[in-house]
Amino acid sequence: MIWASGWKLASAVSQAGGLGLIGSGSMYPDVLKEHIRQCKQATSRPFGVNIPLLYPGIEKHIEIVVEENVPIIFTSAGNPKTWTNVLKEKGITVVHVVSSSKFALKAEEAGCDAVVAEGFEAGGHNGREETTSMVLIPAVCRTVKIPVISAGGMATGRQMLAAMVLGAEGVQFGSRFVASEEASSHPSFKQAVIRAKEGDTALTLKQLTPVRMMRNKFFKEVQEAEWRGATSAELQSLLGRARAKKGMFEGDLDEGELEIGQTSALIDNILPAGKIVEMLWKEFSEALQQPLRQS
Ligand SMILES: Cc1cc2nc3c(=O)[nH]c(=O)nc-3n(C[C@H](O)[C@H](O)[C@H](O)COP(=O)(O)O)c2cc1C
Repeated sequence: MIWASGWKLASAVSQAGGLGLIGSGSMYPDVLKEHIRQCKQATSRPFGVNIPLLYPGIEKHIEIVVEENVPIIFTSAGNPKTWTNVLKEKGITVVHVVSSSKFALKAEEAGCDAVVAEGFEAGGHNGREETTSMVLIPAVCRTVKIPVISAGGMATGRQMLAAMVLGAEGVQFGSRFVASEEASSHPSFKQAVIRAKEGDTALTLKQLTPVRMMRNKFFKEVQEAEWRGATSAELQSLLGRARAKKGMFEGDLDEGELEIGQTSALIDNILPAGKIVEMLWKEFSEALQQPLRQS
């Protein structure tokens, strides 16, 4: 996750038994290299790197993960055909993030080892189709043969079990880990996440790249621009540069872009990442023992 998952968060998750991912989307190449090296120092367990494929200078990021022998790469926001073979030839496991069955099939055809099926509820960039995880997980599972990891709208172990009942073989959590001690997100943003209630996030900027964010001052400006029929160029100019950094990393809760998922309504504490992994596993195991709610 951009501006959230650096080496501290990724290594803490891996150390606790999950698969931690470094979000390279907000990193210059030398910064990414440093995060990978620090992560290796902090844990001997496997970790991965997420690379959004649409960002400029992607070749350099690919070069670094190969050089540094990162075993698992999660790609997103782009065509999986371009880089999957290059990475797989180096023995790297490649997982691609999709928001529809159509894109899941393309990822499978491109040779990806697994897909992340990311539903409408998820924080950050998202699909235009607005398919919720409840529909997307079974739809993707019946379309592809490769393993499906679900994402979007999950912040508890019980939800993890529900995703697996629907056919997912793993779950990718995002928003829950923004509210972790190790996330590099600004403390004010983390506080805003734990204060958020149902309805406090929305999917917006569909004309450019759809993104789920908090309904703050910046969101309202975008919404008003969209209502008066702003062109893509006008929206792009309103967005400007470094909005996400301003909000999530620098903590400007009014002017910044605050990417977070619907699960912010379920998250009410900031915990060490290892504790979150432990809690998810405990909730999952308890839910497995007693799947139905007792009245
Ligand atoms: C702050 C933030 C930044 C994110 N950045 C990225 C990113 O750079 N690349 C990516 O593939 N997904 C990104 N995501 C999506 C997450 O990886 C994950 O799929 C999503 O958060 C799961 O849904 P959830 O928020 O309901 O847990 C981001 C999500 C958040 C909340």
